[in-house]
Amino acid sequence: MTSNPLRRRVLQGTAAAIGTIFLPLHAATPRFTIGTDDFLLDGKPLQIRCGEMHFARVPREYWQHRLKAIKAMGLNTVCAYLFWNYHEWREGRYDWSGQRDAAEFCRLAQQEGLWVILRPGPYACAEWEMGGLPWWLLKSPGDAFLRTRDPNYINPARRWLAEVGRVLGPQQVTHGGPILMVQVENEYGFFSDDKEYMRIMRQALLDAKFDVPLFQCNPTNAVSRTHIPELFSVANFGSDPATGFKALAAVQQGPKMCGEYYSGWFDTWGAPHRRGAATKAVEDIQAMLKMNGSFSLYMAHGGTTFGLWGGCDRPFRPDTSSYDYDAPISEAGWMGEKFDAYREGIKPFLAAGETLPVAPAQNPLLEIAPFALKESASVFANLPPKVIRDVSPRPLEEYDISRGIVAYRVTLPAGPAGVLEAAKVRDLAWVFMDGKQVGTMDTRYRRFSVDLPARSKPVTLEIMLYTIARVNFGVEIHDRKGLHGPVRFTPTGGTAQTVENWEIRAIDFDADGILPPLSWKPGRAKGAAFWRGSFNASRQADTFLDMSSWGQGIVWINGRCLGRYWSIGPTQTMYLPGPWIRDGANEVVVLDLTGPQTARISGLKKPILDQLRPERDLARPPSKIKPHLDGVTPVHEGEFAAGSATQDVRFSQPARGRQFCLESLDAHDGKQFAAIAEISLLNAKGETIDQSNWTIAYVSSEEASKEDGGALNAINGQVTDYWHSAWSGTGLKPKHPHRLIIDLGKDVEVAGLRYTPRQGKDDVTGRIKHFRAYVGDQLAR
Ligand code: GLA
Repeated sequence: MTSNPLRRRVLQGTAAAIGTIFLPLHAATPRFTIGTDDFLLDGKPLQIRCGEMHFARVPREYWQHRLKAIKAMGLNTVCAYLFWNYHEWREGRYDWSGQRDAAEFCRLAQQEGLWVILRPGPYACAEWEMGGLPWWLLKSPGDAFLRTRDPNYINPARRWLAEVGRVLGPQQVTHGGPILMVQVENEYGFFSDDKEYMRIMRQALLDAKFDVPLFQCNPTNAVSRTHIPELFSVANFGSDPATGFKALAAVQQGPKMCGEYYSGWFDTWGAPHRRGAATKAVEDIQAMLKMNGSFSLYMAHGGTTFGLWGGCDRPFRPDTSSYDYDAPISEAGWMGEKFDAYREGIKPFLAAGETLPVAPAQNPLLEIAPFALKESASVFANLPPKVIRDVSPRPLEEYDISRGIVAYRVTLPAGPAGVLEAAKVRDLAWVFMDGKQVGTMDTRYRRFSVDLPARSKPVTLEIMLYTIARVNFGVEIHDRKGLHGPVRFTPTGGTAQTVENWEIRAIDFDADGILPPLSWKPGRAKGAAFWRGSFNASRQADTFLDMSSWGQGIVWINGRCLGRYWSIGPTQTMYLPGPWIRDGANEVVVLDLTGPQTARISGLKKPILDQLRPERDLARPPSKIKPHLDGVTPVHEGEFAAGSATQDVRFSQPARGRQFCLESLDAHDGKQFAAIAEISLLNAKGETIDQSNWTIAYVSSEEASKEDGGALNAINGQVTDYWHSAWSGTGLKPKHPHRLIIDLGKDVEVAGLRYTPRQGKDDVTGRIKHFRAYVGDQLAR
């Protein structure tokens, strides 16, 4: 709030005028406008203290409980994404019922005295399947048409926004509802810079009769990339509010708002659990409020990605089902120290006369004694009768298969040993020869081949494929699933032959994880199988199913698809909300792809969110890859500036190659560690090179136990996480030179690099000082 009352009165006049810039001409009475310094509600300044919550990630029965908690934490607004695919999993069939009832969510928010900021997409991100975009868009050809002006994208996107307008238009503040503002797209500046596309998206929302202010969000370092005068901008950041607000002031006159302030972060399977420090967050929030700024906490309440809706960080790091996000309101709606810290931190900034309600009580908990699942049904024995025949396998979308388990069968003639390789495998596959498992294919490591032994007679090859999630970030959202042909067999020392005439059978889990008809047998089925058991509940209360003795798969409760689990962790439990438990008998079905150690489940009163079990992962052939830099001339040798700013480096000469290596020689803090938040490469025009086929060819070391310092963090597009050389553990800590070698997927001409140092305060470790860069084909082999 502008401290000078006189100035405020003056501004109110002019603000009213300015505010209308961001309003459509035919707007009804503009109760909410954007002034020169303030948001204005009925002409009075409104400082937005907002928190993100996804109604799709919270049991409908608990929406009100969570909204009460958000209000009690000191927030006056809730921000919610709409996930397009959640409401239109099959083209033209919209669903706004039950858990999808967005209008009801808005009504409840209003009842709880909360305003709403709506983020309808079309693209959302949010660690949600394909970033919220519907899979059926991928029936159209191309690897770069999504989030562009391509009609195959724009037309369905417009239809979606028109549908959103039909359903949620009446919830706008201009029509008596709680919706103050609506976001256009999501962090588009991270993806591209086509301002015309943003204008088209804005127009689509106007055509959908949205008459409240529209805005766009971008990370601080991309605010200017897609800002357009007719669309208000907010900045997303997890630290350094001053820099974020400066980036906004550089493009527009208006109130300063942080569209996503990260209270924690999301987890991916196989990487350490992420936490966010409350003290620093409260400091930053108070700093923003003192600067008369507004903010939205991402996440205020993360909840759970139920069903099969989890997304996947690029290049392929699937997100856990728990979306606790270390948020102040935990996955099960618990309010602990972090909640209290935020509430106390916000209290001094309440408007005159504003008070905070008492926080709602925690919901009851239930312990369930271990129960056995004694019946099973093997996947192969329960495949649906429908068979698709094709010369060579094509992506699933072309067969109108949305996601699930797919079995591919083909006959391979007798012959010598060799390698079977597919063009691509999305996501995990188990390969069987005459029923005996001979290997796995794993898109995490771009491993699309298995060794096959010699065969004295023709054999039946079966490949069972499991789709986990479509990538939700970057150009990799063009994530077509399945076994991508041609599939070739190369006899040792021989020439490759294409393997043809495939039979394909799929269990399509569709939108809500439909269970196929299964014929149950007592005991343990071989290999991938469904399991069934039940437990008795004396009352409906929350519990956490302990899945740590299982492998990897999906759980159903009373026919409802609860979600995915994977015992590599870090999450070992699944949140089961009380309202979804029946008094008496509750049926539990588990699909396990690798087979449980013990087929038992119990219900705990506490979640397990931070237990990594790498030994439970699929066997990964030892990496024989070594760096080979001796005698290789670096394309550049230089020094990065201190601090957190992104830096571009142009090489004196562009260089071609399939691999790129960054080698740290020392760090600004003089310590032995190296870290990179983000590295991208530049072409001769200074544009960033497409990194959709990038993988890590070699890394000298990465911290993978005390924090998620995985090398993939350096190429996943997020500046909020980072690669960090190993620092925990007993042994000697690796010293400089640290090397990160990226496989670019193909031969590329590289003329420079863009390095984003580890973000945060100046005392963070790993900020590289002197470095060398190499481009070549054999840097790691
Ligand atoms: C971005 C996106 C959000 C979410 C966060 C990470 O900023 O806008 O949807 O993906 O990152 O949790």
